[in-house]
Amino acid sequence: MRKGQVNVFILLLFFTLSSASDQRWRKAMMSAYNGSSSMMMNRVGSSILFPIHGNVYPTGYYNVTINIGHPPKPYFLDLDTGSDLTWLQCNAPCVHCIEAPHPLYQPTNDLVACKDPLCAALHPPGDYKCESPDQCDYEVEYADGGSSLGVLVRDVFSLNYTNGIRLSPRLALGCGYDQIPGTSNHPLDGILGLGRGKSSIVSQLQSQGLVRNVVGHCLSGIGGGFLFFGDGVYDSSHVTWTPMSQEFTRYYSPGSAEFHFGGKATGIKNLIVIFDSGSSYTYLNSQAYQAVTVLLKKELSGRSLKEAPEDQTLPLCWKGRKPFRSVRDAKKYFKTVLSLAFTNSGRRKTQFELHPEAYLIISNKGNVCLGILNGTQVGLQNLNVIGDISMQDRMVIYDNEKQVIGWSPANCDNLPRFRSYM
Ligand SMILES: *[C@@H]1O[C@H](CO)[C@@H](O)[C@H](O)[C@H]1NC(C)=O
Ligand SMILES: *[C@@H]1O[C@H](CO)[C@@H](O)[C@H](O)[C@H]1NC(C)=O
Ligand SMILES: *[C@@H]1O[C@H](CO)[C@@H](O)[C@H](O)[C@H]1NC(C)=O
Ligand SMILES: *[C@@H]1O[C@H](CO)[C@@H](O)[C@H](O)[C@H]1NC(C)=O
Repeated sequence: MRKGQVNVFILLLFFTLSSASDQRWRKAMMSAYNGSSSMMMNRVGSSILFPIHGNVYPTGYYNVTINIGHPPKPYFLDLDTGSDLTWLQCNAPCVHCIEAPHPLYQPTNDLVACKDPLCAALHPPGDYKCESPDQCDYEVEYADGGSSLGVLVRDVFSLNYTNGIRLSPRLALGCGYDQIPGTSNHPLDGILGLGRGKSSIVSQLQSQGLVRNVVGHCLSGIGGGFLFFGDGVYDSSHVTWTPMSQEFTRYYSPGSAEFHFGGKATGIKNLIVIFDSGSSYTYLNSQAYQAVTVLLKKELSGRSLKEAPEDQTLPLCWKGRKPFRSVRDAKKYFKTVLSLAFTNSGRRKTQFELHPEAYLIISNKGNVCLGILNGTQVGLQNLNVIGDISMQDRMVIYDNEKQVIGWSPANCDNLPRFRSYM
């Protein structure tokens, strides 16, 4: 296989290292319950909504602007449901920082202690050493080889609720003072960790009673979209829900799936699947990847599409008689719906379908390219990753309270409208 062309970007936490109080944590929780926040708690159904920017191709990521600090300053963050910790490139001072759109974050001196449960949540269960008990050192490494090393601090996040209330809770975030860029580095200020763990921003908001621990996103196929915290943005009865795996608890995973091609089972089963907004493309293990490429090539044989190895945009591209302008143009060749059928512990199967828009892109050369890549090749081992390309134009909802993942078709081009009543 040719190399060097794949914009591998998978934000998926591989491991966390190193060290963190309890009373402080209580105190922080109490202080967040001031005037407006206690009012919040009585308003069931309130959510926090953020517009997002970006696209699968050519940008390769989606970013959200979060206002942090006092006074609040904006930061552009990569939204990542594949990891828990939110961190900013930070002037602690910075040992290695990557070029970023905003000046480095100036940390507060409100350090999270090593014994704090939030710190514990960022380290492997069992023993981690607290060499400096007053601080929580962290290190996170992502699947693309990138990493961030730093210390946890608390600072004010400015958040607007859909009911018009504005809140400024103090939340823990990483002050990253030593970053290594991954194979595909994004020019952003940091990462917004939206995973299942306790340290994620939404879990912290929930433990302060400020929002239900539900995260969702709607990535538009024309770029942009929105992100939300809380359960007030969707109609649950229109959502296909499937339980989160209680076995693979590190990521948002409905467990294992069977791969279907054009409505038919392929015999490829037990694929452990995770949903990861930090990955622009979808990755299948070598066996499933091979099946997709073989079956697609078979479907295309005798058609006027030709493989275009000169197009290095992605490993597999095809040239048409005329350059394609959109995936819709290419749909007379690609009609197959791929799907992942989740067995969810023996109950009724749920299907996550991938229409051609969910697995193809049009390169800048006008060729159509397969947006499903070989996960084995990038070291994902047995994990299969549903990336942004396959989550476009639908809401994907991670309900950590009910422990279910849901999806429903949606128009992600416009922010849902809410009437403010404050
Ligand atoms: C991130 O999003 C903001 C809008 O919220 C946009 O102005 C900015 O260009 C984006 N930054 C990058 C690096 O994509
Ligand atoms: C929150 O609302 C205020 C006032 O409506 C606005 O100025 C501010 O930009 C909003 N902040 C965010 C992060 O959307
Ligand atoms: C309490 O709420 C106000 C806004 O009403 C905010 O400015 C302040 O930071 C909040 N205090 C804490 C500790 O969150
Ligand atoms: C996927 O990658 C693995 C590891 O590099 C390789 O052995 C395998 O042949 C690849 N599969 C296909 C179908 O290209």
